[in-house]
Amino acid sequence: PVLVVDFGAQYAQLIARRVREANVYSEIVPHDISAAEVAAKNPVGIVLSGGPSSVYEEGAPALDSGILELGVPVMGICYGFQVMAQALGGTVEKTGAREYGATDMSVDGEGGGELLGDQPDAQTVWMSHGDSVTAAPEGFDVLASTASTPVAAFASPTRGLYGVQWHPEVKHTTYGQGVIENFLHRAAGIPADWNPGNVIADQVAAIRAQVGTGRVLCALSGGVDSAVAAALVHKAVGDQLVCVLVDHGLLREGEREQVENDYVDSIGVRLITVDAREQFLSALDGVTDPEQKRKIIGREFIRTFERAQAELVAEAAAEGDPIRFLVQGTLYPDVVESGGGAGTANIKSHHNVGGLPDDVEFELVEPLRTLFKDEVRAIGRELGVPEVIVSRQPFPGPGLGIRIVGAVTAERLAILRQADLIVRQELTGAGLDQDIWQCPVVLLADVRSVGVQGDGRTYGHPIVLRPVSSEDAMTADWTRLPYDLLARISNRITNEVADVNRVVLDVTSKPPGTIEWE
Ligand code: XMP
Repeated sequence: PVLVVDFGAQYAQLIARRVREANVYSEIVPHDISAAEVAAKNPVGIVLSGGPSSVYEEGAPALDSGILELGVPVMGICYGFQVMAQALGGTVEKTGAREYGATDMSVDGEGGGELLGDQPDAQTVWMSHGDSVTAAPEGFDVLASTASTPVAAFASPTRGLYGVQWHPEVKHTTYGQGVIENFLHRAAGIPADWNPGNVIADQVAAIRAQVGTGRVLCALSGGVDSAVAAALVHKAVGDQLVCVLVDHGLLREGEREQVENDYVDSIGVRLITVDAREQFLSALDGVTDPEQKRKIIGREFIRTFERAQAELVAEAAAEGDPIRFLVQGTLYPDVVESGGGAGTANIKSHHNVGGLPDDVEFELVEPLRTLFKDEVRAIGRELGVPEVIVSRQPFPGPGLGIRIVGAVTAERLAILRQADLIVRQELTGAGLDQDIWQCPVVLLADVRSVGVQGDGRTYGHPIVLRPVSSEDAMTADWTRLPYDLLARISNRITNEVADVNRVVLDVTSKPPGTIEWE
């Protein structure tokens, strides 16, 4: 793999994704990894990420400089560039010249070398730094500069060491992906031969090796991750897998049917649906506090799943073939964020599928542990998972329960479901599904406003549209949807959905607003 050394912030994941977009497999490792540990992973290249610190700060994340002596090509980015400069005897200083955001950069030196040689001489890059490299280490060529940063990129091709001050991994750096690809393919000579599809065969073999002839259980949520994980496991072990769908009544229009019909038809998995709608509604009766709702929904989910599981486990045991494995759609970002690297999973509980019982003694099967969301989608398509599920935008486990501001009732759920369907139809119809991250539709059930419809006064509820653009849901901006589309959505909702007489647009970024309203 290419190892991405994580110096903090969100940069490492972004870099790892960009490396994979260049068709090279990447893994993230913590910055305190030793040179020996790095060597043991047999990397073909190493990228040092950016980070929030200054190399001079007390406790600033350091690097085992032996990593630079392994003979493996290394590229430092931003903080990683500075760490590299410092480790090799260059100078890093607080010059007072801070650069944040879009910055003009020019490629100098011997035509930019392998890293920048094919790039425009003048370009805009995205910067975020307070310290600057003022002198490159001995033997390094300076490749680029900006008005206030004389050493914005350097290279020592003979040692296989490269660095850039800017962030090539962010989309605001126009030619950023080119820099990453130049490092990988030209400087380090790594072939572009990895793609998420390759993962299928490996995972199928790994799943077979892990579960043998054992039986496997999987909770389907209607979302992408569990659907793709189950499809992979099914490909590996067929009917040793049983899936359970808990219908908590908080799903959107058509979601249960998409799993029960389209998914089952195309993948061929054995599915049991548990209808728990009444149970959830009565547990949520009168509850308005969002965290309380989440707790209740999580708890009821566990109870329901446990009941179904107990029945299935008993049935399987009676047949002399116990269920010992549980599939989880854990993705790479979850693994990285929980500090886990390559460790194998034999965990008691995890809270991905809405929370699992504390005393499950299952061994987890997590075939998506090394993958990012877009890769999971690509694999899902290859496995034949229906497009409606594969391209589904993120939807929270507590579902519509946390999109009704106020108490959850069957009537309110019906209103919201109808409004949400209209929004989804219109966004899809306008071809905008790829442009938005997700678009929560929220019913302000405890708010009423006066309206006029036909020749009568109405006193109805507002529906909030919350379209957001994001790369990872950690930060988001509100999506500038076309006015005519907004007008159509508004017209349709106010005309077609009873008790709704107003549609409002949420124009708040995250932060300060979260994506969901509750
Ligand atoms: P927020 O509202 O925190 O949402 O900006 C970030 C992302 O997380 C989803 N979300 C949840 N997902 N259980 C989930 O499984 C939850 O309780 C939950 N709350 C928010 C949200 O849809 C968005 O994608």
